Amino acid sequence: MMPSARFADLEGASVLITGGGTGIGARLTEGFALQGAKVAFVDIAEAPSQTLCDEVARLTGRKPLFLNADLRDIEALRQAVRTAEQKHGPISVLVNNAANDIRHAVETVTAEEWDDNLSINLRPHFFTVQAVVPGMQQLGRGAIVNFTSTSFMLNIGDMPAYTAAKAGIIGLTKGLAGRYGKDGIRVNAIAPGWVITERQRQLWAAPGKLEAHIGRQAIPREMHPDDMVGPCLFLASDASAMLTAQTLIVDGGLL
Ligand SMILES: NC(=O)c1ccc[n+]([C@@H]2O[C@H](COP(=O)([O-])OP(=O)(O)OC[C@H]3O[C@@H](n4cnc5c(N)ncnc54)[C@H](O)[C@@H]3O)[C@@H](O)[C@H]2O)c1
Repeated sequence: MMPSARFADLEGASVLITGGGTGIGARLTEGFALQGAKVAFVDIAEAPSQTLCDEVARLTGRKPLFLNADLRDIEALRQAVRTAEQKHGPISVLVNNAANDIRHAVETVTAEEWDDNLSINLRPHFFTVQAVVPGMQQLGRGAIVNFTSTSFMLNIGDMPAYTAAKAGIIGLTKGLAGRYGKDGIRVNAIAPGWVITERQRQLWAAPGKLEAHIGRQAIPREMHPDDMVGPCLFLASDASAMLTAQTLIVDGGLL
């Protein structure tokens, strides 16, 4: 269920979300649009992103701006940021959400595969920030929310490049928060537990595994993408004005 809370400062805000076309990102796109924000999102999933834009337009009367760009391509990423700024004005909220949680055996990973993994799971987080910060400095404010994961805190062992990237995101978050706090720019992270998107259900939720995981949560129910929206809106809004350099764990109380 979408959060009922209203964050008045998000009305009319220029928001950029990476990976905003499916999964958690799609609900973030919808959630910010419901707050009256001007939402742009970057994704490579063309068909679901177009469908989402139509659905959100029907629901809110505001069509999000879909930017089809591969975040592994830094120049394409920079161009997407420029297009979003031209259409919606300087970005005041950046949500770095895109990732790829592909599993990989330690023994067979090549240098190219390692670099490719980090080129989606860590590198864009730095370059989107580099691209949006001048606009935020002009505005004198900004909020950046980076999606990490509890997987590395739980020593999950079947995707070490992903977990290394996710741990790196926390270091990046803290370093950037220290660098840009004086400009009124806050940088925080959200660490979701297991959020059951369609992709998770299809690929990783083996019988028994999901039930066992839910059984370890203090709140023993399946988490859904909507459960990430309220925490993200809160970190993006001035309701969290003095909150920076932090990681908010949203995992139903497993950790
Ligand atoms: N679902 C979970 O259980 C879970 C748990 C912990 C953390 N997270 C984190 O939450 C965030 C969202 O998770 P999700 O499950 O919705 O992810 P997802 O894989 O379902 O969706 C990611 C989105 O990013 C897009 N994307 C992937 N590669 C891209 C590229 N190269 N260029 C542009 N777009 C690209 C995809 O098309 C997709 O729309 C991620 O950062 C993920 O690591 C998710």
